Amino acid sequence: MSRTQPVALVTGGAQGIGLGITHTLLERDWAVVAGDADPGAVAAAHPDLAGRGPGRTVKLDVTEPEAVARVVREAVETFGRLDGLVNNAGIMMQVPPEELDLATWERVLRTNLTGAFLCAQSAVPHLRATGGAIVNVASSRALMSEPDTEAYAASKGGLVALTHALAMSLGPDIRVNAVSPGWIDVSRWGNPPESRAPEPLTAADHAQHPVGRVGAPQDVGALVAWLLSDTAQFVTGANMVVDGGMTRKMIYD
Ligand code: NAI
Repeated sequence: MSRTQPVALVTGGAQGIGLGITHTLLERDWAVVAGDADPGAVAAAHPDLAGRGPGRTVKLDVTEPEAVARVVREAVETFGRLDGLVNNAGIMMQVPPEELDLATWERVLRTNLTGAFLCAQSAVPHLRATGGAIVNVASSRALMSEPDTEAYAASKGGLVALTHALAMSLGPDIRVNAVSPGWIDVSRWGNPPESRAPEPLTAADHAQHPVGRVGAPQDVGALVAWLLSDTAQFVTGANMVVDGGMTRKMIYD
C-alpha cells in the first residue's frame, strides 16, 4: 500500500539552515517547496533539490503578502496538499541601538516576524485539511543577547510568542512549534556553495559548546523534521532550543 507523501514549504530554503532543513525533509520522504528571496540561490539550488527528491526551489519574498499567497497556492496545485510550513527565512543586523534607523528595525521585524505570520495565514486552510504542522525558526537570541542586536532579538522573541498564540488558535487541527538554534555554521551552505567563504572555526569555538562542537544545519533539520512528524503529536506551543547546550552554560568572567 503506498503512503501519501507529505508536502512542506520551507522559507529561506535555498541556503543555510533552510537548505539543511530542506535536505533533511527530502531524506525523510517529504516533497519540499523551498522558497527563497535570493534569485541567484534559487537558480543554483534547483538541480541540487531535484537530485534529492520531489520538490522545487521558487522565488519567494516572505514580506510580500501576494507572493506568499501565490507560492502557497502553487505548492498545493503542484503537489496536491500541504502538511508542513517551516518559517525559516530571516535576516540579522548588528547595530548599536542609538544608530539603528527605523527602516532597518522595520525590515528585520517584517522579514523575521511579519513574514512568518503572512506565511501561516496563507497556509492555514491547507494545513487544516491535512492536520499539518508549523515550525518557526526562532533563535537562542530570543532568550539571551549580545550587544547591538535589538531588532533581531525582538523579532525572535516575537516569533516565540507568535508560536504559542498560533498553537492556541489553530489547535487541535494544526500544531505550531518553534526551534531556537544557537551557533550554526552555515558558511558552507551558500548556493552555490562557493558563494560563501568557509568560516575558519577554531578549536576553542567548538570546545566552548557542552556537546564539543559548533552546530550544523542538519542539527536543526532533524528537530524540525521530528516536530513536523506524527511522532510529535503531543507537542504544540513549544520552543525547543538546539544549541549544543550553550544557553544552559553559566558564564562569569
Ligand atoms: P542564511 O542567510 O544562510 O539563510 C537565510 C535564507 O533566507 C537566505 O537564503 C536568504 O536569501 C533567505 N531570505 C532572507 N530574507 C528573505 C525573505 N524576505 N523572504 C524569503 N527568503 C529570505 O541564514 P541562516 O543562518 O541559515 O538562518 C536561517 C534562520 O535561522 C534565520 O531565521 C536565522 O535567524 C535563524 N538562526 C540562525 C542561526 C545561525 O547560527 N546560523 C542561529 C539562530 C537562528
